[in-house]
Amino acid sequence: MVSVQGFAQNFEEKVDSLMNLMTLQEKIGQTVMYGGSYDQTGPIVGADNGKFIREGNMGAMLNAMSVKGTRDLQKVALEETRLGIPLLFGYDVIHGHRTIFPINLGLAASWDLKMVEESSRIAAEEASAEGIHWTFAPMVDISREPRWGRISEGAGEDVYLGSQIAKAYVKGFQGNDLSQPNTILACAKHYVAYGAAQAGRDYHTTNMSEGELRNVYLPPFKATVDAGVETFMSAFNELNGVPTSGNKFTLRDILRKEWKFEGFVVSDYTSINEMILHGFAKDSIDATRIGMNAGVDMDMMGEVYRKHLKTLVEEGRVSEQYINEACKRILLAKYKLGLFDDPYSYIDEQRENTTKYKPEFLAKAREIAAASSVLLQNKNHALPLFNELKSIAFIGPLVKDESEIIGNWAAKGDREGKAVSVFEGVSEYLKPNQILYAKGCEILKDDESGFNEAVSVSKKADEIVLVMGEGHHMSGEAASRSNLKIPGIQPKLIKKIREANPNKKIILVLMNGRPINLSDEVNLVDAILEVWFPGTMGGAATADLLFGKVNPSGKLTVTFPRNVGQVPIYYNMKNTGRPIPENNSNEDYKSNYIDVPNSPLFVFGHGLSYTNFEYSALKLSTNQLTFSDSITASVDITNTGNMDGHEIAQLYLHDKVGSVTRPIKELKGFQKIFLKKGESKTLTFTISVEDLKFYNNEMKYAVEPGEFEIAITPSSNFKFKHGFQLK
Ligand code: NOJ
Repeated sequence: MVSVQGFAQNFEEKVDSLMNLMTLQEKIGQTVMYGGSYDQTGPIVGADNGKFIREGNMGAMLNAMSVKGTRDLQKVALEETRLGIPLLFGYDVIHGHRTIFPINLGLAASWDLKMVEESSRIAAEEASAEGIHWTFAPMVDISREPRWGRISEGAGEDVYLGSQIAKAYVKGFQGNDLSQPNTILACAKHYVAYGAAQAGRDYHTTNMSEGELRNVYLPPFKATVDAGVETFMSAFNELNGVPTSGNKFTLRDILRKEWKFEGFVVSDYTSINEMILHGFAKDSIDATRIGMNAGVDMDMMGEVYRKHLKTLVEEGRVSEQYINEACKRILLAKYKLGLFDDPYSYIDEQRENTTKYKPEFLAKAREIAAASSVLLQNKNHALPLFNELKSIAFIGPLVKDESEIIGNWAAKGDREGKAVSVFEGVSEYLKPNQILYAKGCEILKDDESGFNEAVSVSKKADEIVLVMGEGHHMSGEAASRSNLKIPGIQPKLIKKIREANPNKKIILVLMNGRPINLSDEVNLVDAILEVWFPGTMGGAATADLLFGKVNPSGKLTVTFPRNVGQVPIYYNMKNTGRPIPENNSNEDYKSNYIDVPNSPLFVFGHGLSYTNFEYSALKLSTNQLTFSDSITASVDITNTGNMDGHEIAQLYLHDKVGSVTRPIKELKGFQKIFLKKGESKTLTFTISVEDLKFYNNEMKYAVEPGEFEIAITPSSNFKFKHGFQLK
C-alpha cells in the first residue's frame, strides 16, 4: 500500500470511531456502487441515485463525471445523509483521460517503464481534475489470445514484462501521496485469468492447472500488490469451475492470506449476479452470499449487496465481520484520498478548466506514441521516407481519421477535433502538392467503388503509404474476432495497389488492437509500421517515424501468428517430447503442422530500427552459481548503422530440467538504451536465485539446482549458446 506510516494508526482509529456510529445497513451502503450515465459497459440496474445516496445506500459511483456532476452528487452525500460520508467516484481511465496515449498493448511495446508511469501520471492529473478519485486500471491480465478483444488493454503475453509494467502503472496513478488531489486509486483487474478465455471469446470459461495460474497469470497481480495498489477487481470469468467473483481460493486464500493485500476488492460490472447464469448460485440472494463470503468487498452495479446482505447477516449466512472488514477497507481508502478532510478536494473548476490537453501532455503523448510503434518489416530500407520526393500517395480509411486513432475505451478523449490524423501529421513534413490522397474503402464495408480512384492516385505518386487496420470497436470488451486478418476489403485494395505498382515502394501503416495475421501483406508491401491505436498525437508521431525524425524502437510484447490456427502461440512454450528438429527439416511424427510452420510471423520481442545493433562478447561472471550468490551477465552492443537510436536488449533464461517441465525460454530482464551511431555500450544484468524460482508441483515457489541457459538478445528469436550451473 502507498505509505501511510504514522497515519495508519490514526486513519484506523478514525474509521473505527466512525464505524461505531454506523448501522449495519449503512455499512452495507458503503459496499454498494451505482453508475452515472456517462459511459455504460453493462446493464443499468436500479437508477435512483439521489434516493440511494440519501438513504446511505451507496458508497461509490462509476461514470459520474465532471466537477459540476460530482459536486452535486457529493453534496447530497454530505448534506443529506445521516453521517455525511463522502462518495468515491470511479471511472475507466485506461490509456489516458483527455490526452489519449496509445492503447495499452501499444504502450507496452515501448518497453519503457518510465513512459508507462508518465502516461498514467498524466492520466491521473487529468482525471482527478474532473472529480475522479479512482480508475479501474491497470488491466494486468496476461493474454496469449489474439482473438480476445481485450488483449488490447493489457501488456501482452509475458509474465516478467507484464509485472514490471503493472507496477509502473500503479505508481503513475497513485503517485507518492494519495492525499494529494492529483492522485487516484488504481485497481488491478481482472482478477484472475480473464485473459485465458477459451477460444478467445470474451467472458468465456478459463481452465488451467494451479501451476499455470501461479506461474503465469498471478504474478502481475502480485506485482501490483507489491507496488501498493489500493484496489482489486474480481473478474467475469469462471476459473476451474468457480467464478472469480465468488472464488474464495483466489480472493481470500491467495490475495488476502498469502499476499496480505489490505485494500478493497470491487466486483466487475454485475459479475456477482452473473454467478447465477454461470450456474454457481441459485438466485441473487445466493450470489450475494457467495460474493461476500468469497471476499468481494464492493458490488459494482449489481444491486445485490444493497438488497440482500442485511438479511443474510441477520440469518447468520454471512458473517457481520465480513461486512465490517469490507466497510472499513472502503472507508480507509476514502481517508487516504483525503476525502474526510476535504470531500471537495477533487472538485475545483479552475483545475478542471486548465488541466486537460496541456501542451506538455500532448508533447509527451507524441513521444510515447512514437516509442510504442513497432517497425515490423523494412525491406530494402523502404523507410524512412524522404521529403524531397515529388509526391507520396496516402491511401486508406485511416489516413484522415481522428476518431479510430484514439482507440477503444478512450475515457473522455475527444473523438472529434482533437486528435492529429496521419494526414495532418505528414503535412508537417510535406508541402500540400506533395500529398496525394484517396480513401479507397471503409474499414468494414464491402463497397469497392473507391478502388479505381485509389489505384489511379497510387500510380501518380512516387511512393505509397497505406493507412489501414481495424476500427476501434473491433478490440476491447466484447470484441473478440475469429479472423485475424486486416478487416473488410482492405486486403483486396492492398493487392490491387501492388498489382498496379509492381516496382514502387509501398508502406503499410497499421492501426489495430491485437496481433493481426499479415501473412499475405508481408509479401505485398515493403515496410510495415505497427502504430496500434496511437492516441491523440498518433498522426504526428507516425509522421515523425515515417520521415525518420524519430527512429523506431518499439518491440512486440505479443506474438503475431501466421494464421489463427496457430493460436495459442507464444514465445515461452514448452518443448514437448517431439519438438521439430533445430534445422526445421520436415520429419514425420513431430510436434508440428502439415500446412504451416510452427514459428509465428513476428516473434515476441521483435521490432526493427533504422539503424543496426550488434551484440557481442556475452560474458558471465561465473558459470557456477550457488544458492546464496548471483551472476552478472554482460554483453556489448554497438550501433553499427547510420542513425542514433534506442535498442531494447532482452535477457532470456532456460531452466533445462525441472520437477515440472519448464518453458523453452523466459524473459528475465531487459534494458532500453540509447546509442549514437557508432557508439558501443556494455550492458550488465544481475541474475539472482530469486529469478530462477517457479511454482513446482507441490505449489512451492522454489528453485531447483541444475543447468540453465542464458542469452541477451534483440528478440526472442535465437538459440542459446551460453549456460551456467546452479549447485
Ligand atoms: C466491465 C469491464 O470488464 C471492466 O474492465 C470495467 O472496469 C467495468 N466494466 C466498469 O466500466
